[in-house]
Amino acid sequence: MTYSLQGKRVMIVGGGSDIATALASDLLHEGAHVMLAGRDATKVAAAAQVTGDTIETLAVDLADEESLRAAAATVAAGGELNHLISVAAQRANGPVATLERRAVLAAFDAKVVGPLLLAKHFTPLIAVGGSLLFFSGLAAWRPSPGGVAMAATNGGVTTMVSALAVELAPIRVNAISPGVIATSAWDAVGPGKQAFFDKVAATNPARRVGAPSDISAAARALLTNPFITGETLHVDGGGRWA
Ligand SMILES: NC(=O)c1ccc[n+]([C@@H]2O[C@H](COP(=O)([O-])OP(=O)(O)OC[C@H]3O[C@@H](n4cnc5c(N)ncnc54)[C@H](OP(=O)(O)O)[C@@H]3O)[C@@H](O)[C@H]2O)c1
Repeated sequence: MTYSLQGKRVMIVGGGSDIATALASDLLHEGAHVMLAGRDATKVAAAAQVTGDTIETLAVDLADEESLRAAAATVAAGGELNHLISVAAQRANGPVATLERRAVLAAFDAKVVGPLLLAKHFTPLIAVGGSLLFFSGLAAWRPSPGGVAMAATNGGVTTMVSALAVELAPIRVNAISPGVIATSAWDAVGPGKQAFFDKVAATNPARRVGAPSDISAAARALLTNPFITGETLHVDGGGRWA
């Protein structure tokens, strides 16, 4: 039994994000062959450059099934895939009264419908011992006013991975549920970002916000441990209990 990622072929969707970049760097360091995929070619290329390696990039929009079909054909031409990860998210924050249907559907496309279609098109490519890894989030487990759409999408991921793990066995399917992680996603908070991070750090049991490397370490465990499937691993500094 091997817990090594050496030589494994791994594709990461949502490839322009900080967490994808950190994950790609760590996997490359372990000798994996990493592909970054996303809907914004410039952002994905920039992320690929940050890793310091020459890595393959692919166009994938989780709201466009044809792009998933095309990406699967491209990946298949290179052989089997060991692990497929999607870190993608599209925010739809705000009180129920203000929610726009289009934004809510885009959030579900990024977290639930798109990953389900990834499973549809990429499962035939997954090698023995391989896995799918999707991203839930604290919003589902510690709901707050204005976060109902994100609670629903993140909760949907957890339900989906358990069901997929049963249906796609022995391919393993897991999720990570991050707490507050210091990524550029929080830049939208504006000048109050650091004060928000300080507040979170003061109240959660880990007494700090998370770093992309915390997520990467958890992902490594889920990708390599052959006895974990159907699981959502909470990497939230205990934020659910704060
Ligand atoms: N950071 C945190 O504190 C935190 C907390 C809880 C959960 N999480 C979860 O952890 C994951 C990564 O977090 P992050 O902070 O790195 O996220 P992020 O900065 O918001 O990045 C999300 C990525 O998803 C991509 N994306 C959105 N819709 C897509 C679509 N239809 N097709 C393809 N890609 C799409 C975005 O692409 P574009 O660049 O083109 O927009 C972006 O690269 C997310 O699932 C997030 O919900 C993070």
